[in-house]
Amino acid sequence: MKTTYTFFLLASMLFLLSSCEQSRSQLQPIREVQDFDNAWKFQLGDTIGANEIAFDDSNWRTLNLPHDWSIEGKFGKNNPAGVGGGALPGGIGWYRKTFSLSKKDAGKMVYIDFDGIYHNSEIWINGHYLGKRPNGYISFQYDLTPYVHFGDSTNLIAVKVDNSNQPNSRWYSGSGIYRNVRLELTSPVHISHWGTHITTPEVSNENALVQVTTQVTNDSKESKKITLQTTIYNKNGTAVGETNNQKEIAAGETASFEQQFHVQQPELWSIDSPTLYKSVSQVVSDNKTIDDKTVPFGIRYFKFDVNKGFSLNGVSMKINGVCMHHDLGCLGAAINTRAIQRQLEILKDAGVNAIRTSHNPPAPELLNLCDKMGFIVMDEAFDMWKKAKTKYDYSLDWDKWHKQDLTDQILRDRNHPSVMIWSIGNEILEQWDSTGTSIARELADIVHQYDTTRPITSACNDPQPSNSIIKSGALDLIGYNYHHQLYASFPDSFPGQKFIATETVSALQTRGSYDMPSDSIRLWPKRWDLPEKGNPDYTCSSYDNCHAPWGSTHEETLKLIEKYGFLSGQFIWTGFDYLGEPTPYTWPARSSYFGIVDLAGFPKDAYYLYQSEWTNKPVLHIFPHWNWKKGQTIDVWAYTNCDEVELFLNGKSMGVRKKTGDKLHLMWRLTYEPGILKAVGKKDGKVILTKEIQTAGAPAKLQLSVDRPLIHADGKDLAFVTVNVVDQNGTLVPHADNLVHFNVSGDAFVAGVDNGSQISHEPFKANYRHAFNGKCLVVLQSDGKTGNIELTASADGLPDAKATLTAQ
Ligand code: GAL
Repeated sequence: MKTTYTFFLLASMLFLLSSCEQSRSQLQPIREVQDFDNAWKFQLGDTIGANEIAFDDSNWRTLNLPHDWSIEGKFGKNNPAGVGGGALPGGIGWYRKTFSLSKKDAGKMVYIDFDGIYHNSEIWINGHYLGKRPNGYISFQYDLTPYVHFGDSTNLIAVKVDNSNQPNSRWYSGSGIYRNVRLELTSPVHISHWGTHITTPEVSNENALVQVTTQVTNDSKESKKITLQTTIYNKNGTAVGETNNQKEIAAGETASFEQQFHVQQPELWSIDSPTLYKSVSQVVSDNKTIDDKTVPFGIRYFKFDVNKGFSLNGVSMKINGVCMHHDLGCLGAAINTRAIQRQLEILKDAGVNAIRTSHNPPAPELLNLCDKMGFIVMDEAFDMWKKAKTKYDYSLDWDKWHKQDLTDQILRDRNHPSVMIWSIGNEILEQWDSTGTSIARELADIVHQYDTTRPITSACNDPQPSNSIIKSGALDLIGYNYHHQLYASFPDSFPGQKFIATETVSALQTRGSYDMPSDSIRLWPKRWDLPEKGNPDYTCSSYDNCHAPWGSTHEETLKLIEKYGFLSGQFIWTGFDYLGEPTPYTWPARSSYFGIVDLAGFPKDAYYLYQSEWTNKPVLHIFPHWNWKKGQTIDVWAYTNCDEVELFLNGKSMGVRKKTGDKLHLMWRLTYEPGILKAVGKKDGKVILTKEIQTAGAPAKLQLSVDRPLIHADGKDLAFVTVNVVDQNGTLVPHADNLVHFNVSGDAFVAGVDNGSQISHEPFKANYRHAFNGKCLVVLQSDGKTGNIELTASADGLPDAKATLTAQ
């Protein structure tokens, strides 16, 4: 009896101890990963000797990364990036950071991780040259161990960034260490860089087989016997699988561990319910945990079908995607998690469920957010191969670097459940000659070496089977950009093949601008290589009546995608406006017109077309504004998912319009008189929505709205504050362009300002902005301290407006 009791006591103590050990290791990782973003020294311009330890950088500016020096510059039509590159300056910049390592860490491995530097970075540690990385979008790591000091002597890392040879991009690239940097300290025996690979080869609602392959490297001087213990946790932190394996790893060698888990009743990752599991692997040697790595993953299955298009976890659905470049408007290329999250929130609200990372590997934070928020990702590698699109682009580095860069992209991104398509290139010029075939096959082989669970596509221009990239047979999914007129003939042209519309639409719009009549289409620019004269104020119409000749109206492509079941979906060019490529215009225009959301994050009207088609929430959006000349003929449009809408002008019915399916918008042609326009939307005979717009008077007030009144006091979090210029009754004044000044007190600073105009040359880093078509935006950033923040907005002749928020 006594023995049994002691046995039970011991067993439960052991259990408690092991679960304490487990939860401790969950809470406190052994591997030390330091945020290495703060307190860098920066100097613009080339500086001889800045790679040397002894160099005096005391006069240099101190800043925190991520940092993009181009966005701080002045617009100029002669900046070498050209208007296509956003008309902002490039050049050479140097970064230096002094740091110490504790004596207690002596003997550990020390690595530095860069998520991305644009571009041609060269890096020195304590005067020792680590190497050059030309690709501006790739993540990479250097081993600092042999060159660092522990204890009292400090270490110096120096980074030269060279973005002087331009143009090297067809869009705004930004310049500098524009993504995050981390320092990692590990034991000499450790899980290798990107050394975890998680797949789910069998998935059903009852059971999932999870396969975790882990590379462990022994960088010590002697052979080591280690145990790799891996635990799978569900979203609540409960362990749902655990296994361990032992191996002897010789000095200098890497061993691979294959571990399998059966997860019962798995919660599948989906767009609406993006459930994440995590795998925690621990390296145990001599009964001590010496290294660990946590990798989130999802359990899901998906299929592209020749006839039925795309399905996720057995449920048919369309990929309703948008293409996105990497800039974050007024913040430039400098990545900020909250800024990306806001973009995704805005897009999700319109029913967007997929992102194409045009045309390069994204910041890892984008993929983390897509995993968490439920977006499908088409992860793209290149905008060019060996043949150049701009004079100094990546084609110059192709031969030496493409293999390494593509390998690193796949290794970094292959555990993300959101990633479901690899794209090996966008509009690659080799598609028109035989090298397209050989290079496509080579790239597909590289991808397959590291991941065989996702289809490969390439976004082609030439939609013919004779296209040498398509002909190569390397693509699992045929992707072509535009050519929507050929969708119907796809099954005949490509029998037995699967299809994704990798890029679509290229409609052109300026928020709040309208050219009438709304049913006459402008094809701008008439020639792709010549800027359009178009509107003298460099605007494009926000009725869906202006698009690039190679594209279509939003409605035209959307109807086809909805019509054909075999089309797995599309990626609209683009979700947000981006810096550079101001098609159809050139200078003074400097940012794109393609977005369904403007550069500042304000939706254009087309956004509501998608919201009405892609979401189930009731939508009734009417436009344009209601300030016109008396007697003018005005087209009023509605995007809605109501069955019918009745429009009233100053109380008088202007008629009922029904959604018939042949048009995705409703229209009334009215003779303008000032007053109130009211739309009443009915579903199944019942009024479900009403919307009113009215004629605005003169600007009388500034109305501020803060996206989140509470931000994290972490030095990185942001509050986006929208300023509306309104009349006495609170109606937006549609053409208001008041100059608004911002004053911030408390624990935040202005990170950027914008108004969504494609031709404004005001600086993005400033405490003032003109409103554009009634609106502007100020972005506040936490200064790292907790406290209250007060923003005052002032404009001549209007009372000050205030907003308060808290950093905690
Ligand atoms: C596509 C290209 C995109 C962008 C777009 C503008 O052909 O892939 O990068 O340039 O045109 O319409």
